[in-house]
Amino acid sequence: MRDSNPRTVYLKDYTVPEYLIHNVDLSFTLDEKNTRVVSRLTMCRNPASRSSDTSLTLTGENLKLVRVVLNEDSELGDKDYLQTPDSLIIHEVPQQRSFVLTIENTIDPKANTALEGLYLSNGMLCTQCEAEGFRKITYFLDRPDVMATFTTTIVGDKDRFPVLLSNGNRVGGGDLPDNRHWVSWKDPFKKPCYLFALVAGRLECVEDRFTTMSGRDIALQIFVEKHDLDKCDHAMQSLKHAMAWDEQVYGREYDLDLYMIVAVGHFNMGAMENKGLNIFNTKFVLARPDTATDADYENIEGVIGHEYFHNWTGNRITCRDWFQLSLKEGFTVFRDQEFTGDRTSRAVKRIEDVNMLRTRQFAEDAGPLAHPIRPDAYIEINNFYTLTVYEKGAEVVRMLHTLLGAAGFRKGSDLYFERHDGQAVTCDDFVSAMETANGVDLSQFRRWYAQAGTPVVGVAQHFDAAQKTLSLTLSQHCPPTPGQTAKEPLHIPVVTGLINRDGSPALCRLGENEAAAEQVVLELTQAKQAFVFSGLEEEPVVSLLRGFSAPVKPALNRPPEELAFLLSHDPDTFNRWDAGQQLAVQVMSGLIADYRNGAKLAVNPLLIDAYRKVLEQSWDDLSYFSLLMTLPSELYLTEQMRVVDVEAIHHAREAVARALAEQLREPLETLYLRYHRDESGRFDAGAIGRRRIKNTCLSYLAQLDADWARHWSLQQFNTAKNMTDQLAALTVIVNHPHPARQQCLDGFYRQWRHEALVIDKWFAAQAMSPMPGTYERVLGLLGHPAFDIRNPNRVRSLIGAFSQSNPLHFHAADGQGYRFLADRIIELNGLNPQVASRMVGALTSWRRYDENRQNRMKAELERIVSTEVISKDVYELAAKSLA
Ligand code: ARG
Ligand code: ZN
Repeated sequence: MRDSNPRTVYLKDYTVPEYLIHNVDLSFTLDEKNTRVVSRLTMCRNPASRSSDTSLTLTGENLKLVRVVLNEDSELGDKDYLQTPDSLIIHEVPQQRSFVLTIENTIDPKANTALEGLYLSNGMLCTQCEAEGFRKITYFLDRPDVMATFTTTIVGDKDRFPVLLSNGNRVGGGDLPDNRHWVSWKDPFKKPCYLFALVAGRLECVEDRFTTMSGRDIALQIFVEKHDLDKCDHAMQSLKHAMAWDEQVYGREYDLDLYMIVAVGHFNMGAMENKGLNIFNTKFVLARPDTATDADYENIEGVIGHEYFHNWTGNRITCRDWFQLSLKEGFTVFRDQEFTGDRTSRAVKRIEDVNMLRTRQFAEDAGPLAHPIRPDAYIEINNFYTLTVYEKGAEVVRMLHTLLGAAGFRKGSDLYFERHDGQAVTCDDFVSAMETANGVDLSQFRRWYAQAGTPVVGVAQHFDAAQKTLSLTLSQHCPPTPGQTAKEPLHIPVVTGLINRDGSPALCRLGENEAAAEQVVLELTQAKQAFVFSGLEEEPVVSLLRGFSAPVKPALNRPPEELAFLLSHDPDTFNRWDAGQQLAVQVMSGLIADYRNGAKLAVNPLLIDAYRKVLEQSWDDLSYFSLLMTLPSELYLTEQMRVVDVEAIHHAREAVARALAEQLREPLETLYLRYHRDESGRFDAGAIGRRRIKNTCLSYLAQLDADWARHWSLQQFNTAKNMTDQLAALTVIVNHPHPARQQCLDGFYRQWRHEALVIDKWFAAQAMSPMPGTYERVLGLLGHPAFDIRNPNRVRSLIGAFSQSNPLHFHAADGQGYRFLADRIIELNGLNPQVASRMVGALTSWRRYDENRQNRMKAELERIVSTEVISKDVYELAAKSLA
């Protein structure tokens, strides 16, 4: 499987393709074990290529070649071409005129456990081609800067494959002998092969329509297995909302007459934006109030939006090479974040996104696998579908939005679409469009694309009472990352506001001439830079980095009183929430030290008071209110510690939660009882907020060792008609000693054994429990009849949840969690390298732990690297994290 020395691909080595493909005519004769593919390529030498080589190299993997024909009539013989494990080299092709190459090969979808290329999922055939899966279907120039029009004809058995789908519009079909039929599809838009898709199977479809802004009528179809037909409504509504949003906010209209979405149960990632035929993980399509949580509903809308938005940011304009992945992913994540913000609560969405960024992406940026949002080298591109490329990539686009303003950003995106429609371009082209449209110089800003690591922004403030000025000195430095020791200053927008001591906003006046504003964007471009605010009667409290305006770590040591003040008064919803988080972090850091010293854990009353104040206020946005009431996660605390102590973190956090529950018991109880009634089937912001705050209260109350609290959770579990409430109750029961624990788990399983996505939740809830015995339980669940290591969702819900979301048990000092994970990775490596390598992540942060754990984690990584047959995917991550 692995070349002993896997090849590294470098951005600096990019050259234009030697040949171009204008048109692709594909025909598939389907069979689970032996699908026949005939590919007719109309192609020519690329006039822009400077190579003098007259041979043609096509990529291809795991293919059985049947024949190669040049220009319709001459079948090539053995000596005309050479086959290698990953290519087909044709020694001589016409150089002066275009030619037609016909290739016939067969593939075995059933043996394809890697779920890349054409594979089988619950009896249906489907494809996943991004990034380099098309080469597992047929020989091709599998690179995104080769764009062609595709026609696809599919032939299959009518019973096994009644539905036959591919990209574009259906242009023909009919019956064939032997109970077979055929369908032809034509996609008029040029696209790279990673956007090709084929789906065949016993699928049912839900249909709707959308009228675009220019009055075109689009058919919308969602294909699922029959028993899921009643779970498509939300996805369909989400699609229509996304289509309207892209018209309103970006002026972008859909271009084909048909938009199809297919949900499949076996899928390596979330979803895929294939032109006109999106393929989704069922997790991001199927929802019914009793099977899906409010979070699922929100994620579905977000991912449906994301894939839809790719039609312009990814498909019409695609990436020149895979180093430019953030061009489409960063921008499209930014677009889906804004879409969800507009559809739900902007404040809540921003907090959720930043939470993810600050825990998981900052960890990536601080570890051995740190890379810029535009990486410059890779062994396996699938390893670079990372939080850095996606989420930090979105933050970089967001900073452009902040610097240029909404109108300036829109001018830039309009120019980008106008200039590059139909092209495969680079991140630089995107920034250039923003630059030209706004007449600004973004050369320093471009460093964000090339430099890895999270910058630390230092802050010093000085108030001059006589001059009535506040001078704010900001500085920046970025710690070294692998391969990048010296860092240059970045262009960082720091959105800043000022607050008077009485809590009222103070106007910001920068320099003498500037008009006063509620807040200003400070553009930090130097290593150290001073900004002077004038006209201030008293020293204000500075609210810095509002809305988390840049992906940086502010080095601010605020006294707890000031944090409590901001929690009460900051008009910026993000900073207000963050003040509460930082206050809790300060208190918990003290308790972590106490725990390590064997001291008693006494919670600072200031924190209790701050939370009491939050509880006493009345809130319109109850989801936001629940976030204010939620303590920073163990993972966030992990990020704050130099040497991570998982036990101390867990116990310190529990101590705070228990103290809050004990001392705020009355208001928490009242709040729980106010909202405890079941509101199943309602998905407006109000009902979602009521469920969220109620369940936040329930989890606090469960900290009390009280029969009535246990009764409340059991009652909620037994009576809930919606998955949000049922799962929240189950989680509380599973995370605490509860006499009905096993009974609830068994009941939940029995109730939901036919709903795969709910059973995923059942596995995950057990895998994430802090209760003793969790490791043994997880080990036992591997043997449960519902566990299937070939299903990525199951792997993520058991192995992923345990290793990535249960720090206490995964990092047990005896190393059993590490051994367990390494065993699974080695097993998965042979089945599904992409999923296997996703699981390596939990071991790569080994340098952050104490010596005992370091040694044990390292030993497991070494065991993985020395596996005899190792995939490029797993090898790259394990080897790089040991280096
Ligand atoms: N382009 C897809 C999305 O983000 C992700 C597909 C990635 N798949 C992969 N195997 N690397 O919408
Ligand atoms: Zn995407």
